[in-house]
Amino acid sequence: SLPTEFAEPVRLAFIGGTGLYHLESLTPVAKLTVSTPWGFPSSPITISKTADGFPIAFLARHGIHHDLLPTDVPSRANIAALKKLGVNTIVAFSAVGSLQQHIKPRDFVVPNQVIDRTKGNRPSTFFEHGFVAHAMFGEPFDLKLNKIIADTCQDVLKGDNVKLHTRETEKSDLTLICMEGPAFSTRAESRLYKSWGGSVINMSCIPESKLAREAEIAYQMICMSTDYDAWNESEEPVTVETVVGNLSANSANAHLVAEKLVTVLEPKIKSGEVGLDYQHSMKFSVSTKEKGRN
Ligand code: ADE
Repeated sequence: SLPTEFAEPVRLAFIGGTGLYHLESLTPVAKLTVSTPWGFPSSPITISKTADGFPIAFLARHGIHHDLLPTDVPSRANIAALKKLGVNTIVAFSAVGSLQQHIKPRDFVVPNQVIDRTKGNRPSTFFEHGFVAHAMFGEPFDLKLNKIIADTCQDVLKGDNVKLHTRETEKSDLTLICMEGPAFSTRAESRLYKSWGGSVINMSCIPESKLAREAEIAYQMICMSTDYDAWNESEEPVTVETVVGNLSANSANAHLVAEKLVTVLEPKIKSGEVGLDYQHSMKFSVSTKEKGRN
């Protein structure tokens, strides 16, 4: 069995979504059950190492047996557990529906904007109990990481018939709608999101990305399109079968992307080029006044 303790800091973490419960190219060297003030994360965190000993964490967002609804994912525990290990860079994978004809099922999307359509019942801040802070979230993803991931995906998916959609390829914002679920959208909702300029839709980006920002961690989500949601009447409306079928066909690409990303990110994280953009950012986000004054 794997060791349950890990002494050195781990800087890079992957979070796997539907259809991605471990990363094949990584051989686990430890399996950690991490306790946090917000409870336990969705799954044990596995640690792997590159050939030169750089550690990487992996967490399965919905649990390794996919038994957590999007609403019930313990995002605060997930982000706090990764922070506790020393993580400063998170690459999160997610299955998404496409809201645009040219974003086909099985395409990869690196979004740079988010619209929160969750219903307000997911704990989405670490700041409470008389302590108020407002994290900056105008850019919900780390721009440096966004660019590196977009370039790496472009390299890996080159020649494949899977297309990559990034801010550069679209020449405009790529907007991810995050809905509550667990039921998929109605056709009218789907068209509404499309009219808002939404590119893709999932149930997982919020509050995960917000909490990562509060934890001063660089975060980017990589979306894998599995269906045309409900707006596209010429296609069958989305079912779990479509989502899971396309994702498992696609997971080979996710593994390739993750494998390549590790080699690209390792030196950049080690040198501090990646992972430090939001370090100390919350210092300027706290509104609570020092008690005892005024
Ligand atoms: N995840 C995958 N496909 C989705 C869809 N159409 N809506 C919301 N989440 C999804």
